[in-house]
Amino acid sequence: MDFVQPTLTTWFEIQTKDHDMTARVLAAAARAFAEPLPPTSGFVADLRDYLVGFVQGWHHQKEERAVFPRLAQRAAQAEGGLVAAMVTEHAQARELVSRFDAAAKAYIDGARDRIGELVETFRAYASFDERHRRKESDVLYPLANRLFSPEDAEDVLEEIAEMERDLGWGTRERYWNLAAEIVSRVELKDLSWGLKPEVLAAILNTLPIQLTFVDQDDRVRYFSHERGAQIVDRSRGVIGKEVQRCHPQKSFSLVEEILGDFKAGRRELVEFWFDMGPRKIHVRYWPVRDEGGKYLGCLETVQDVTAIQKLTGQNRLLDPVG
Ligand SMILES: [Fe+2]
Ligand SMILES: [Fe+2]
Repeated sequence: MDFVQPTLTTWFEIQTKDHDMTARVLAAAARAFAEPLPPTSGFVADLRDYLVGFVQGWHHQKEERAVFPRLAQRAAQAEGGLVAAMVTEHAQARELVSRFDAAAKAYIDGARDRIGELVETFRAYASFDERHRRKESDVLYPLANRLFSPEDAEDVLEEIAEMERDLGWGTRERYWNLAAEIVSRVELKDLSWGLKPEVLAAILNTLPIQLTFVDQDDRVRYFSHERGAQIVDRSRGVIGKEVQRCHPQKSFSLVEEILGDFKAGRRELVEFWFDMGPRKIHVRYWPVRDEGGKYLGCLETVQDVTAIQKLTGQNRLLDPVG
């Protein structure tokens, strides 16, 4: 993330940086809201703080107090209409963000059933803000940059600094850090985002480990290496079946016990190993949990470890390939 405090020397750079940062925060939040699992209260609280505190309470204020009035004085009448239009849009944005704010507050306070309203009000605000920012970045800011004298530019910068002093030193840094956190949290949460499902599937099929995933309701939902060499046979017929029914009757209670332990958090790994002809097979079962620790299912990994068991000495990257 390139949110390191840069040396911004003009009002144009500061305001443009604000716009870029907001675009990234909104894109990250849109991704978070599109995920199957609902966002955490902490994430929504940070997003609310950013949109209400920074975009509405700070960025728009800088425009209305320092940039717009001066531009209205300098611009020709037709261009002055543009300033009036932006002020009107700020009022519309205020209305949209207050709807998001209400839903966000309720959600943070535990009203998880407000998720639909939260997402809907966020999307309405984000798409409005996107159009608004483009008009400013593509038309209004370049126009002001052209029309402002060097003294005007200095005055705008000074007014921004004054407003910052009123808010308290460090406010800008705090919000910029908050933006970086919001964005990186979404990016770190899901590095696979942006990969096509078929690429992700190909990656999993390339692992030297065969995978089978059983969901939180004990139903088989996925297995890898469908078309490649399988260590244990898997076919599409098992998808959707309860895992207990895929095992012989005598191991039924053991499977039940393992899954029960995983769900209750009593065990984090169960493993077996056995011979299959000349090969040594290592089978492990892992509980799969989300960031909050909620049980999502059980992953089985099956690996032929025969060659690994025979490794001796070293064969490093720069050694001749055998
Ligand atoms: Fe604006
Ligand atoms: Fe703006």
